[in-house]
Amino acid sequence: MTSKLLEKLFNLVERYREDISNPSHVVVDYKTPSELSDLIRFAIDEHGVSADEFAELMENYLNYSVHTGNRHFHNQLFSGFNFPAFAGDVLSTLTNTSMYTYEAAPVATLIEREIINTMNGYIGYEDGDGIFLTGGSNANLIAMFSARTRMFPDSRFDGLNASGRLTAFVSVHAHYSFENAANLLGIGAHNVIKVAADENGRMIPAELDKAIQSSLERQQIPFFVGATSGTTVMAAFDPLESIADICRKYKLWFHADGAFGSSLILSPKYQHLFRGSQLTDSFCWDAHKLMGIPLISSALLVKSKGTLQFNLSDINTDYIYHNNSEIEDLGKKSVQCGRKVDAVKLWFAWKHYGKSGYAEKMEHLVELAKYAEDIVHRHDKLELVVPRQTLTVCFRYIPSFDTNVDKFNFTVREELRKSGKTMVNVARLNNQMFIRLIISNFENQQADVDQFFDYFIQTARELEQQEMLQHQNHA
Ligand SMILES: Cc1ncc(COP(=O)(O)O)c(C=O)c1O
Repeated sequence: MTSKLLEKLFNLVERYREDISNPSHVVVDYKTPSELSDLIRFAIDEHGVSADEFAELMENYLNYSVHTGNRHFHNQLFSGFNFPAFAGDVLSTLTNTSMYTYEAAPVATLIEREIINTMNGYIGYEDGDGIFLTGGSNANLIAMFSARTRMFPDSRFDGLNASGRLTAFVSVHAHYSFENAANLLGIGAHNVIKVAADENGRMIPAELDKAIQSSLERQQIPFFVGATSGTTVMAAFDPLESIADICRKYKLWFHADGAFGSSLILSPKYQHLFRGSQLTDSFCWDAHKLMGIPLISSALLVKSKGTLQFNLSDINTDYIYHNNSEIEDLGKKSVQCGRKVDAVKLWFAWKHYGKSGYAEKMEHLVELAKYAEDIVHRHDKLELVVPRQTLTVCFRYIPSFDTNVDKFNFTVREELRKSGKTMVNVARLNNQMFIRLIISNFENQQADVDQFFDYFIQTARELEQQEMLQHQNHA
């Protein structure tokens, strides 16, 4: 049975690869929840299914899942199919182990160390450290945790009860995970203070200084600043060097959330966006976004060795750790016990493309985003909502009659999603809803961007005509 199903599985992988490289294949064969429940039997039954039924379940899972590898998947900050990383992921799952000890994961331990050192080299941490964890949100949490522990080491054992009111500072465009981190750490989401940004979406350092001053005047305890290198909506980069000066002045932990944007540092052309990165205390980097690694592959880098171990209240669990290797067990730096070998798939991809290969891919992505922006500029019905910074193009279609433009654009997006032609998301800034086109699939070419706008404009025109007819009928 297993070898027959293995053959079926490989056929499905091959079919998926063909589907995503066929420009007219849908991103998703959209079904409502009740249609899906008719197509797939979700209940777990008393007795297991037959080999044929199992094969059908595999096929149906693939048929009705979103093909994020499709060139027209623009809905999230990741997209595409990266074969070397896929191979690494299959090997990781096949060898199913956990990162806590060298004895359980010898090759993966050396791989993770190598990748952390390589990433630290880009950020500029000469004697840094780091850990792979479950994503950018988690990296932001552990960064804030490290800042809290540095400020109040006893809080690891006594809690925060007697510590006073801690305050953290991020830009108005920062990711929501900072508020969740403050909530989880007992600091409180309301104590994450939002600092104003300029029209390019970058935190204004003078506003940060003012916000810290006001917090001190309120007898609060500022302890953490989170800059963003690649904001979720505008893909904007906060000025790290100027923010570092302020963190030094007030002795605050300085973290940069590069979950989305960090990978641009791989190209010398975009390293200026990270000027001052070596002055941060911690940096987060999601390889599962722009580097095209299957989720999850995410690292938190820290400037000082020992930081991560110091956070933890007990790392001497002798049922796992026997101190019997010539190398440190990486589990002693992690709040997780079982931990997937997420650096492995990244290592395979990085080995395959090399540093220069990834540099070219990052340059290609930014050029494609610029190409998309030019299309918006040239089209008389499309309006750029905010200036493009790097990889996202935020625009809306302006219909020729008086209507709710937010609703109109959302409807176009919904029509496209349900047709399966393309998936693109909306976002909201300054009380306006707009389309956020994310360029994150480095396999894409200009023809794919053209095709996206053809789909979008055609659907918008059809909707415009329908609504105009309805207006005329009501008049
Ligand atoms: C700027 C930023 N930070 C953090 C995150 C969270 O990353 P993850 O989804 O890996 O938890 C995101 C996700 O979109 C993000 O855009």
